[in-house]
Amino acid sequence: MNIAIDGPAGAGKSTVAQKVAGQLEYVYIDTGAMYRALAWGVSHEQLPISDESAVSALLKNNKIGLVRQAGRQRVFWNDIDVTDQIRSTEVSQYASIVASYGPVREQMLVLQRQLAEQGNVVMDGRDIGTHVLPDAEVKIFLTASSRERAERRWKELREKGTETDLAELEKEIEERDRRDTQREVAPLRQAEDAVLVDTTGMSIEQVVDHILQICERTGESAK
Ligand code: CDP
Ligand code: CDP
Repeated sequence: MNIAIDGPAGAGKSTVAQKVAGQLEYVYIDTGAMYRALAWGVSHEQLPISDESAVSALLKNNKIGLVRQAGRQRVFWNDIDVTDQIRSTEVSQYASIVASYGPVREQMLVLQRQLAEQGNVVMDGRDIGTHVLPDAEVKIFLTASSRERAERRWKELREKGTETDLAELEKEIEERDRRDTQREVAPLRQAEDAVLVDTTGMSIEQVVDHILQICERTGESAK
């Protein structure tokens, strides 16, 4: 069984997907980290972010790695560990710009399908249920109000020692959501056969339990 989890920024996709994968002993694949790694590469190489063909060539000529180390996912750009650096605000905005380029998405699609080839994966992103794994047995569209999503990010950053402005954070998230839903290639949208889970007011454990129940029901009905 493959599980696709899509939704807007801060909906809880990566946290929940990792826990679901852990419970089911599936492989977790964070496709957002791949776009973030490319965005980091663009910034590192000081390429103009608006140059679609240069960004696409950069992806072609470099290697993005998702590696599990000590139970945690680490992200590599060639042999540079960029796991922490790709979470900055600048990289987040850059990621949603490079993600709007068709030739970039075409290459990512090939890489992501290769990663899911062996099956039993939980993959999260924006277009997993609609484009990357359209045949996934379980499709979840995870969301929450933009205020709650911004608050979650704000708390997360504060725990890491970074104080940010909540209103500013909410504006950044909304801007990225707008770019992700309005782009022409593989925009963020709920697949027709995805289950909508609005997590506003829900704890991580509640969301994980809810998704595990959906997986269980799907597994039962496939028997
Ligand atoms: O991957 P995505 O951007 O969708 O969200 P995330 O990075 O998994 O979650 C953003 C933050 O919200 C993390 O700090 C989670 O611990 C937190 N979270 C939460 O407080 N309640 C939930 N139901 C889900 C996530
Ligand atoms: O964690 P958060 O939800 O904030 O973002 P992410 O999942 O790490 O993704 C970063 C950016 O990559 C998103 O804003 C999207 O523009 C892009 N992305 C995408 O277009 N398609 C995917 N399957 C995953 C991410």
